[in-house]
Amino acid sequence: MVPPLRLASLLLVLLLCTAGANSSSSSSSTPLTKIGNGYRLISIRETPDGGLVGHLVVNKQNNIYGPDLPHLQLFVKHETEDRLRVHITDAETQRWEVPYDLLPREQPPRLKQSIGSLGKNTIAVSEYSGSEFIFSCISDPFGFAVRRKSNGQTLFNSSADGSDPFGSLVFKDQYLEISTKLPKDASLYGLGENTQPHGIKLYPNDPYTLYTTDVSAINLNTDLYGSHPVYMDLRNNGGQPSAHAVLLLNSNGMDVVYRGTSLTYKIIGGVFDFYFFAGPTPLGVVDQYTSFIGRPAPMPYWSLGFHQCRWGYHNLSVVEDVVENYKKAKIPLDVIWNDDDHMDGKKDFTLNSNNYPRPKLLAFLDKIHSIGMKYIVIIDPGIAVNSSYGVYQRGIANDVFIKYAGEPYLAQVWPGAVNFPDFLNPKTVSWWGDEIRRFHELVPVDGLWIDMNEVSNFCSGLCKIPQGKQCPTGTGPGWICCLDCKNITKTRWDDPPYKINASGLQVPIGFKTIATSAVHYNGVLEYDAHSLYGFSQTIATHKALQGLEGKRPFILSRSTYVGSGKYAAHWTGDNQGTWENLRYSISTMINFGIFGVPMVGSDICGFYPQPTEELCNRWIEVGAFYPFSRDHANYYSPRQELYQWDSVAESARNALGMRYKLLPYLYTLNYEAHISGAPIARPLFFSFPSYIECYGLSTQFLLGSSLMVSPVLEQGKSEVKALFPPGTWYSLFDMTQTIASKEGSYVTLDAPLHVVNVHLYQNTILPMQQGGLISKEARMTPFSLVVTFPAGATEGAAKGNIFLDDDELPEMKLGNGYSTYVDFYATLTKGGVKVWSQVQESKFALGKGWYIEKITVLGLNGSGGASALEIDGSPVTGASNIELSTTEHKFLRKLEDGDDKMKAVMVEVSGLSLSVGKNFAISWKMGIKG
Ligand SMILES: *[C@@H]1O[C@H](CO)[C@@H](O)[C@H](O)[C@H]1NC(C)=O
Ligand SMILES: *[C@@H]1O[C@H](CO)[C@@H](O)[C@H](O)[C@H]1NC(C)=O
Ligand SMILES: *[C@@H]1O[C@H](CO)[C@@H](O)[C@H](O)[C@H]1NC(C)=O
Ligand SMILES: *[C@@H]1O[C@H](CO)[C@@H](O)[C@H](O)[C@H]1NC(C)=O
Ligand SMILES: *[C@@H]1O[C@H](CO)[C@@H](O)[C@H](O)[C@H]1NC(C)=O
Ligand SMILES: *[C@@H]1O[C@H](CO)[C@@H](O)[C@H](O)[C@H]1NC(C)=O
Repeated sequence: MVPPLRLASLLLVLLLCTAGANSSSSSSSTPLTKIGNGYRLISIRETPDGGLVGHLVVNKQNNIYGPDLPHLQLFVKHETEDRLRVHITDAETQRWEVPYDLLPREQPPRLKQSIGSLGKNTIAVSEYSGSEFIFSCISDPFGFAVRRKSNGQTLFNSSADGSDPFGSLVFKDQYLEISTKLPKDASLYGLGENTQPHGIKLYPNDPYTLYTTDVSAINLNTDLYGSHPVYMDLRNNGGQPSAHAVLLLNSNGMDVVYRGTSLTYKIIGGVFDFYFFAGPTPLGVVDQYTSFIGRPAPMPYWSLGFHQCRWGYHNLSVVEDVVENYKKAKIPLDVIWNDDDHMDGKKDFTLNSNNYPRPKLLAFLDKIHSIGMKYIVIIDPGIAVNSSYGVYQRGIANDVFIKYAGEPYLAQVWPGAVNFPDFLNPKTVSWWGDEIRRFHELVPVDGLWIDMNEVSNFCSGLCKIPQGKQCPTGTGPGWICCLDCKNITKTRWDDPPYKINASGLQVPIGFKTIATSAVHYNGVLEYDAHSLYGFSQTIATHKALQGLEGKRPFILSRSTYVGSGKYAAHWTGDNQGTWENLRYSISTMINFGIFGVPMVGSDICGFYPQPTEELCNRWIEVGAFYPFSRDHANYYSPRQELYQWDSVAESARNALGMRYKLLPYLYTLNYEAHISGAPIARPLFFSFPSYIECYGLSTQFLLGSSLMVSPVLEQGKSEVKALFPPGTWYSLFDMTQTIASKEGSYVTLDAPLHVVNVHLYQNTILPMQQGGLISKEARMTPFSLVVTFPAGATEGAAKGNIFLDDDELPEMKLGNGYSTYVDFYATLTKGGVKVWSQVQESKFALGKGWYIEKITVLGLNGSGGASALEIDGSPVTGASNIELSTTEHKFLRKLEDGDDKMKAVMVEVSGLSLSVGKNFAISWKMGIKG
């Protein structure tokens, strides 16, 4: 044994050792390299700030997909106790990376040549005393591993041995490859945007291609609108679950091949910039992830209301009718939207003076604004090429467009021929802000919807406006390319050596988007920046809206990238009105929660074609619980507003009625998302990480930690078989209905057409209000608290909270004088029940006069009844209006063993007027008869 060489610094232990002869692999079992021959690490040293810099040299050159880069720089840093970065790039020239101004983070050290020579089987290990990760690498062929310090488990290991279906690191100009082994029991989630027919868990051998693309969401297993090269890996470890995430921060197109026991990235450019997030809980993972990529945007209160949209609201009267009909049908509605119907010739920032005359539109907006309703319109990135169009004129004057051979790149979208603004150019960002300001003066919209920003182009390649042919300019849809175009095949950007599986068909990567040899500001190639288009537009739009009226912006973006959630909400794009699409919507929604974009939903009832009446019933029952709840339909679909069918209207009143009672809870979840990244809609494993049964569950979801939605997702069903993790669950619609199980179980629930099952878990305090037809009204109604204990228990504790603020303020935080935060606690002891609150920043809630009128406590033992009520230490006299009532629970399932006689009661204390802004304590005794 050669003694290990030890280089110790204050914080870092770097261990260099030559492996003993029997542990070294013989040269005959050298990993089989598929594309390249791998690299060897020739030097490694510490940097003064606790990082590691290594130098890699290519083994024998190989020319598949181009020559290998001869020298690479490795940079490793334990950035926080739960974040590790591993960055590998060309040691000689600066390469494209996700711009540091779009996604702020530390710059790796400047590239410097470094020489050295390490033995063939040298292993370098870096441990940082404050880090949960141990990084190690082996010198030849170079591979690195990341282990979890607390349990020693290997989380990532890029070293191949002969038996692995992958080779060593490959680094060419236009092809990068790296793989990791994975244990069989690792459950992976993420790698989107992708419609996943097999549900939320990544499915071995399904393709995961990441490249922002306008192919409709009905395409399964293909690249879609957003790119999120991040996965969460959840392992049960025999009941000691741990989760971590791996982000590969790279904006180039890539295929990710997941084989169940390994995962390989095949990327067409950029660098390897890995970030590992230690968890170990799923909530910990999203907290660490969003603290790095940006916390989810605060959403205005009204945006949690219901939204109605449609492409094809031909004129303002139609829009007015829709609003009126919602009111008549008594279905809640907060926001009415226009697709491009209000525009003049489908040109951004314009109004059609015939169908949407400005004075009438302004009068309509005054009317809806006065009752708290809001209005949002669409904006596409393509700016019509039209010399009499001010937006275009100013764009040309400011030189804001993406270029090809020195001229603005010509494409076609809805208005006909267009140019695309280059949001990587600071001048474009100012011009865009100015156009939004001008438009807002024309029409005081309350938010913006940015669509088609993958970017979508009806043509491909290099185009000219045809001579003597008129392209459509707003007279009807028309997405067929009418420009005179030729494909570009001769550049290595348009025709790269490795073809990602673009659109699931391996089409050229410039197909129906910007030519990938087009150039952005500072010479940046579209090839590299393609998937950042929507993200950069979102940032520019956010900046513009934030500058207007000083209000909290609302932006809905179709294309997203790592970090988009800091600025915008997302909907899952053009889905279909089918049962499959209803099911897929749940997986995509919960994936976006993991991506740090918690404000998400799908087009309720489907974008096209027309849904059946039954489907639309079931869809609103799911959609009422999407964080972002909007009905939207295609131009060619029949009308599908929720009042169009009586049965759907009834389901909507029921489900949306419940949503509007839950608005204070949803808003608090929005706050938690903003401060900790916690998704609003979550997979069950977030709350039950050791319950393996729920790891792949994609037909139910949680709102927050303890409200579970178990919808009907199949035609013709009036029952639903739902999974109930261990513990007690109470139906939210009929709180006496109870399901309790020790080990967890599937329970078949009644679910007639108008019924959606929503259950609340034990040990929770849920704040609710009385609901209403507009969130502004609902928000001023009295509160109630629902407190849950395990059914029949004699001891227990429950917790809940609420965040309230002035949602017009751009910031969402405590300490500005315009917000209140309350923790609610409850305990159950032999002596009885106690519920109390702890208020932070009382002023805001006191000013609004909010009060709690009712407290309902579920699952209490026995039927002895409640007595001796005290509020803030004083007994409540018979003369007060306060009433105590007791109702017995009905069990659908009881705890397994010997609980036939199990009884539990619900106690309701009503007629209260406890101020939300003041600490209170309320208690009573429970008589236990057993
Ligand atoms: C990584 O994989 C290699 C090859 O299978 C193996 O020799 C090595 O022990 C692994 N490293 C870790 C830390 O798991
Ligand atoms: C608005 O459009 C509808 C439907 O296309 C039409 O019936 C109605 O006459 C139009 N109203 C006005 C004022 O143009
Ligand atoms: C340019 O815009 C004007 C004003 O909207 C419109 O009348 C005209 O048809 C457009 N021209 C072209 C070539 O699209
Ligand atoms: C351009 O390329 C696309 C995608 O490969 C192909 O469908 C189309 O026919 C080509 N167009 C021309 C004019 O060659
Ligand atoms: C490309 O994606 C499609 C759609 O998922 C899939 O059917 C096909 O097998 C993939 N092709 C390759 C080469 O991965
Ligand atoms: C209810 O309380 C009685 C008396 O304390 C106790 O014997 C019984 O086990 C309790 N029931 C449950 C289900 O905990």
